Amino acid sequence: MGKVISVANQKGGVGKTTTSVNLAASLAYYGKKVLLIDFDAQGSATTSLGINRSKLTGNLYDALMGIKTIKEVIIPIQVADKKTLDLVPATIDLAGIDMKLLEQNDHTFVLDSIVAKVKAQYDYVLIDCAPALGISTLNALYASDSVLIPIQCQFLAIDGLTQLLNTIRVVQKNLKVNKRELTIEGVLLTMLDKRTKAGWAIVNEVKEYFQEGVFKTFITSNVAAQVAPTYGVPILTYAPKSSAAVLYKSLAKELIENNENK
Ligand SMILES: Nc1ncnc2c1ncn2[C@@H]1O[C@H](COP(=O)(O)OP(=O)(O)O)[C@@H](O)[C@H]1O
Ligand SMILES: [Mg+2]
Repeated sequence: MGKVISVANQKGGVGKTTTSVNLAASLAYYGKKVLLIDFDAQGSATTSLGINRSKLTGNLYDALMGIKTIKEVIIPIQVADKKTLDLVPATIDLAGIDMKLLEQNDHTFVLDSIVAKVKAQYDYVLIDCAPALGISTLNALYASDSVLIPIQCQFLAIDGLTQLLNTIRVVQKNLKVNKRELTIEGVLLTMLDKRTKAGWAIVNEVKEYFQEGVFKTFITSNVAAQVAPTYGVPILTYAPKSSAAVLYKSLAKELIENNENK
C-alpha cells in the first residue's frame, strides 16, 4: 500500500513545490512507483513538469467533484532515463475548491476517498499543498500517513509553525478515531545559503526545535532548482550533477531508508 505524504507549510515560497516535484522524481529515479498530486490552484508542480495546463482535459478539481475518476486525470511523466511518475495535475479550476468541498458530506475526507482508489498501485503518493491551512490542506492531511514540512533557511523561518503543528495535532486526534495515524515524516531545511552565518543559525534553531525530526539532508540554495521548472523538467533531468539534484536524490534515499529499512 502506498504511503501518502503531504508536503505542507502554510507559508508560501518555502520550497513545497520544488520539494514535491524533485522528491517525486528522485523516488522514481530509485525505481519507486510515485503519484504526485498537485493540490494548488497555481498549478506550479504541473507546469514544473512541462504540462501545458490549458491543454488538459481533466485535473484534480474534476476528480474531487466526481466529474472524472482519479484514474482518468492521471498523466504519466517521463523523469529520468526510462523512469516515470504519475501526476494528478491542477489548474486554476481549484481556486474555488474550498467552497465546493464544504458543500460535500464528509468534506475533510474528499481527497482521501479518491486517493484510496489508487494508492495500492504506488509506493509513494506525494501531495503538493497550497500555502494555506484551509479545507484543501485539511483534505490533504486527512488523506495522508505523514507530513513533510519544508522550512526555508531564512529569518522568521519557524514563525507560524505553531499553527501548522496545531492543525496536524487536530487531524491526528480525529484520525485516531478511524484507527489511522498521521506522523511527521520530517522537517526539511531548504534554500540554505551555506556562505552565511544567518543561514546556519536557522539550521541550528530548527534542529533545536524539532530535534530528531529534521531530515539529515538539507537543500542548499542552487540556481538549477530555479531554472529547471522553466524547462518543464525535474532538476535531475535538467542538471543531474547540480547540488540540488544530488541533494534531492539524497533526500529520497533517506526517506526510503526511514520507511523501508525498519
Ligand atoms: N534549493 C533552491 N535553491 C534556489 N531556489 C529555490 C530552491 N528551492 C526553491 N527555490 C525557489 O524558491 C521559490 C519558491 O519555491 P517553491 O517550491 O515554489 O515554494 P512553495 O511551493 O512553498 O511556494 C521558487 O522560485 C523556487 O524556484
Ligand atoms: Mg507551491
